[in-house]
Amino acid sequence: MNSPAAGITAGIHSAAAAPKGQAVANALGIPEHRPYTVVHAGLVDWVYSVAAKTRPAAIVWCDGSAEESERLFGQMEAAGTLRRLNPAKRPNSFLALSDPSDVARVEDRTYVCSQNQADAGPNNNWIDPSEMRGTLSGLFEGAMQGRTMYVIPFSMGPIGSSLSEIGVELSDSPYVVVNMRLMTRMGSAALAQLGSDKPFVPCVHTVGAPLAAGAADVAWPCNPTKYIVHFPETREIWSYGSGYGGNALLGKKCFALRIASTMGRAQAKADGLGWLAEHMLILGVEAPWGKKYHVAAAFPSACGKTNFAMLIPPQGLDNGGWKITTIGDDIAWIRPDAQGRLRAINPEAGYFGVAPGTSAKTNPNCMDSLHSNVIFTNVALTPDGDVWWEGMSDTAPAECTDWQGQRWTPEIAKETGRKAAHPNARFTVSATQNPALDSAWDDPAGVPIDAFVFGGRRSSVVPLVTEARDWAEGVYLAATMGSETTAAATGQQGVVRRDPFAMLPFCGYNMADYFQHWLSLGAGLRARGAQLPGIYCVNWFGKDADGKFVWPGFGDNARVLKWILQRLEGEVGGQEHALGVSPRYEDLDWKGLEFSREKFSLIGAVSNEAWASELSDHEGFFARFEGRLPADLPAVRARLQAGLKKAA
Ligand code: GTP
Ligand code: SPV
Ligand code: MN
Repeated sequence: MNSPAAGITAGIHSAAAAPKGQAVANALGIPEHRPYTVVHAGLVDWVYSVAAKTRPAAIVWCDGSAEESERLFGQMEAAGTLRRLNPAKRPNSFLALSDPSDVARVEDRTYVCSQNQADAGPNNNWIDPSEMRGTLSGLFEGAMQGRTMYVIPFSMGPIGSSLSEIGVELSDSPYVVVNMRLMTRMGSAALAQLGSDKPFVPCVHTVGAPLAAGAADVAWPCNPTKYIVHFPETREIWSYGSGYGGNALLGKKCFALRIASTMGRAQAKADGLGWLAEHMLILGVEAPWGKKYHVAAAFPSACGKTNFAMLIPPQGLDNGGWKITTIGDDIAWIRPDAQGRLRAINPEAGYFGVAPGTSAKTNPNCMDSLHSNVIFTNVALTPDGDVWWEGMSDTAPAECTDWQGQRWTPEIAKETGRKAAHPNARFTVSATQNPALDSAWDDPAGVPIDAFVFGGRRSSVVPLVTEARDWAEGVYLAATMGSETTAAATGQQGVVRRDPFAMLPFCGYNMADYFQHWLSLGAGLRARGAQLPGIYCVNWFGKDADGKFVWPGFGDNARVLKWILQRLEGEVGGQEHALGVSPRYEDLDWKGLEFSREKFSLIGAVSNEAWASELSDHEGFFARFEGRLPADLPAVRARLQAGLKKAA
């Protein structure tokens, strides 16, 4: 990479380094630039209160323009934070290599500080809010010295939609600004939504690395101490010490899931139903029989949401008569409409997707999205100035520079096991570059959901697909879902943990209350005569005795999707078992795929023995919620257990 010192000098001398807009005088004596007039006095007061504490060298309000982004790219290039990729290969695209200690979400440093610990629940780390405020006050004191504080207004959801919410992030990271511009509707239009007094979710972020006067910066400033803190009652987010992904792009997990989940549940007190903020992709699917469906699917981090949201069904399946389009790839906000139909929007505007494993074979739509205007983080750099990661091609480049800036060759990898790209390496790209983008992806009214799909990463036990027989059973299966941990969060990988609804790290309140919210919403909608979406559980990750995936996955997942939609229409059979209904071999469409009955028996069936022990594990999991667990769940468990006994 560039030497940081040389980079900074270049940045200062670059004419493009001056922010656009008007200099504003403030009582703090901090140079401030605004490209627009700000009429929201509460916002200005809050910005100054944070500036007074963190003492940045400058304040810059962001407008979300391409010029602004280009200016920041230029500055970061000069500072060595980013490297411009070969414009002939990957126009207007950049590579960032993070500090090796700052590569993923830090779940053990993430807190939900509600007034009462019981409201955060056993699923969240909790510290008394006044104690946490004291800690943060110390940490944020002078934390932005020597850096620019960016004011980043953003809309989660289409601008002006009644389903959308506005946030403002204050961050001392220009990398955050350029990522937020791709991931959200960021800038003047979002700010305009606030008028002079509308509420917004305040999000404060610092990398926690103040710069002394004249000191040289490092390429990826961060702090070994990290705090990702949510105050659900006051709807505030404070993030300290990390510049990476969900730790720093506060619109994503912090706002659109942890804070939004509490907002959706609070709304239930007002209108009896409320809404849902879920870790779900949303896809549109046109069936060969001419009907369009919408499916929302929750898989834990790095378990296939982006892939499922963009999948291309195999040509053999009904002669290519299937078409899948993307509404969202990670988060869904879901509300009942006046008719009681659940409608979903994608609050995001871009994809922060897992690079390793993404290829023209596994996810061609994704690869096509990445031709230009991409920020890559922690992938490898090829000698011709392009990117590479494990799984991108069958053969690795003869040589490249790995995510830590070291020379990497396939031989070195063989000897040392070193990866060229970090397993949680990511790309940031605008949704508008996705060739499979659904025409309604930006529709303020959202899309009606026909089915929910829940899936984990389980090498055994969980069958390919199971249909829940009713809403409560579906909630049960989702609530008890297990998944092997991945590189998306720091900590041990590959261990099975309960990850209810793929929301374990993202539910901003007690998970028992969250289960109740789902149950009540279902009951409330049914009472209003509405038709509820079907609930299905899938597992693409079953392995054989040699540890190889049995199911081909990716595009062939459309075969399971076909069965699900045919079930909704009552047009295909299945086998009822203790847990629900699963397809027999002959119920799936195998055209164009060689997949034997023997293979199917490895992943298609329910083992009564394995499920007896799975169900007793559920009991231990439920025990964590003490008296708060909705009675429906143990009731369903007793029913499933009785079914298993009968089958045995
Ligand atoms: P987050 O962005 O962390 O929320 O991840 P995600 O749920 O969007 O996961 P993504 O689609 O990026 O996939 C993660 C990893 O799983 C990638 O390496 C994929 O190649 C791999 N993967 C996705 N779908 C399948 C599948 O059907 N089968 C197998 N074997 N692997 C898959
Ligand atoms: C996830 O971990 O589920 C992600 C990546 O989508 S991050 O934005 O880091 O949360
Ligand atoms: Mn995710």
